[in-house]
Amino acid sequence: MIEFRVNGNTQRLDVEGDTPLLWVLRDTIGLTGTKFGCGMGLCGACTVQMNGQPIRSCSMPVSAIHGQEITTIEGVGTMDDLHPVQQAWIDENVPQCGYCQSGQIMSATALLASNPNPSDDEIKQYMAGNICRCGTYPRIQKAIKKASR
Ligand code: FES
Repeated sequence: MIEFRVNGNTQRLDVEGDTPLLWVLRDTIGLTGTKFGCGMGLCGACTVQMNGQPIRSCSMPVSAIHGQEITTIEGVGTMDDLHPVQQAWIDENVPQCGYCQSGQIMSATALLASNPNPSDDEIKQYMAGNICRCGTYPRIQKAIKKASR
């Protein structure tokens, strides 16, 4: 039995300990906002937060998160109460295809929680692990700047 919290709710699950957290979130719990990209910890599409820090859920065995607090894109804000990063994403029309964007937002919100007013270089460095095949990087950069003010 593995126990952890997701977006404030306690989960007690009878799953194999080596199952990647991504598949437990998507298939067992039904939180499909977190996406599968490379499956090798390289693209960032599967980014969630563990205790506020961004992690790659595709390469994190669920046994490693026993007792931890996980936040997914579903826990960031609501349609009635958007996180400032989500509002900035809308204002700057950041997404193109949208596939990588929940991972981008999970990294961006973690960045601003630890560094509320990052420099351009700090944003670039922090976000470097989140790949976007549509090349929305300039808009991501602008939206994070906007949300940081
Ligand atoms: Fe996890 Fe690419 S799907 S980093």
